[in-house]
Amino acid sequence: MYKAPRGTSDILPQEQAYWKYVEEKAASLCQLYGYQPLSTPIFEDSQLFTRTVAEGTDIVDKEMYTFTDKGGQKLALKAEGTAPVCRAYLEHGLFNLPQPVRLYYFGPAFRYERPQTGRHRQHHQLGFEALGSADPAIDAEIIEMAQRFFLSLGLSGFSIQLNSIGCKLCQPKYVEELKRYYSGYVTRLCLDCKARLIRNPLRLLDCKKSSCQKIAETAPKITNYLCPECQAHFQSVQEYLELLDIPFQLNHRLVRGLDYYSRTVFEIEPQEKEAQSTLGGGGRYDNLIEALGGKATPAVGFAAGIERLVLNLKSQNLAIPPLPAPIVFIAYLGREAKMEAVKLSSQLRKASIAAIQATGDKSLKAQLRQANVLGIGYTIIIGKSEVESRTVILRDMGSGEQRSMPQTEVVTTLKQNQPLG
Ligand code: HAM
Repeated sequence: MYKAPRGTSDILPQEQAYWKYVEEKAASLCQLYGYQPLSTPIFEDSQLFTRTVAEGTDIVDKEMYTFTDKGGQKLALKAEGTAPVCRAYLEHGLFNLPQPVRLYYFGPAFRYERPQTGRHRQHHQLGFEALGSADPAIDAEIIEMAQRFFLSLGLSGFSIQLNSIGCKLCQPKYVEELKRYYSGYVTRLCLDCKARLIRNPLRLLDCKKSSCQKIAETAPKITNYLCPECQAHFQSVQEYLELLDIPFQLNHRLVRGLDYYSRTVFEIEPQEKEAQSTLGGGGRYDNLIEALGGKATPAVGFAAGIERLVLNLKSQNLAIPPLPAPIVFIAYLGREAKMEAVKLSSQLRKASIAAIQATGDKSLKAQLRQANVLGIGYTIIIGKSEVESRTVILRDMGSGEQRSMPQTEVVTTLKQNQPLG
């Protein structure tokens, strides 16, 4: 028997209500803020990610799904959504539009990680990005959208963690200071952190191992090393958040797992913070578009993981609207009745009444059981005598009441959707 590949899951019909709920909330939120939908391909030139997310990050070094196609091109399954949005922004000349260009997307991302609760090899993200503005007010807009998204889903108890990681000018000086600090602790670092010290020192700060976290606690704080421009930007983002009444926690160890960030970074953490629990994250990426060959273009964005949102909706026991069920099930007994049932099913659907037609030659009891399992409100029953009298029996599955009526009245009765009395 085949199984879904490790780290991937089927989203069965009973799960889809959660997904639809999240997608609809996301789409109406993005519409409210003037963000337009954008879809990019499932795979991209692998260099799109190696140049932006960057070598030295887990995503590029260990987790990318890369392959060479039959034409010899090296491709990668989408590892994240921001670099593809920037590629599309450049490819389609969206920089010619009034800036910033506000876009959102919804779709899968692929990372070869060790699967566990909340961590998958194929996961799904909702992301929104504002490209072409350095205004700190837009950082605040993105953070407000993230907060409003979680609130609109009904989630509570989450916190917004905020930091600035500076720019090309001030970050290198901080990194030197960080390396100096960590060089005194090399023997106590975990193996990964030993490698980080050489390849990606900023990431030392968010190692999840408790022994490394202790060392990180007293590490120099990047906010003390920001250049005046980055300091003013960070100050201004905080002022806008206060103006908007958005609570946040400054977190000097927040650096994010992708290398394209500069200045503002933020994450949304649930109350019960576990290793794989971050609900979403984002920040500024003012150098990314330039790294892809465009003009220097400031930008900021955010993405949330849908699987983790669904887990939280469930653990907080939030009531999700069910997917609409068909209104009526059409049962029949005998060949002639079946011909009537097929015709009537089609007529009902033409009248926009969602109908499920029985199949085969099951007993009436089995047909009614099927309607019950499907949670359908009404069943139409057609037997030999109904065919002769051109009537049907309409049964209210909730109360068990039923009555006979002319076929011609079925549509009007079901449109009114009144319980039988
Ligand atoms: P990220 O933090 O790598 O950021 O991913 C965003 C969110 O996707 C995470 O906070 C998490 O909820 C979810 N996620 C990530 N990896 C997995 C996984 N293996 N399984 C389940 N969920 C996962 C980005 O991807 C950036 N592109 C976000 C961004 C947008 N920055 C600026 N604009």
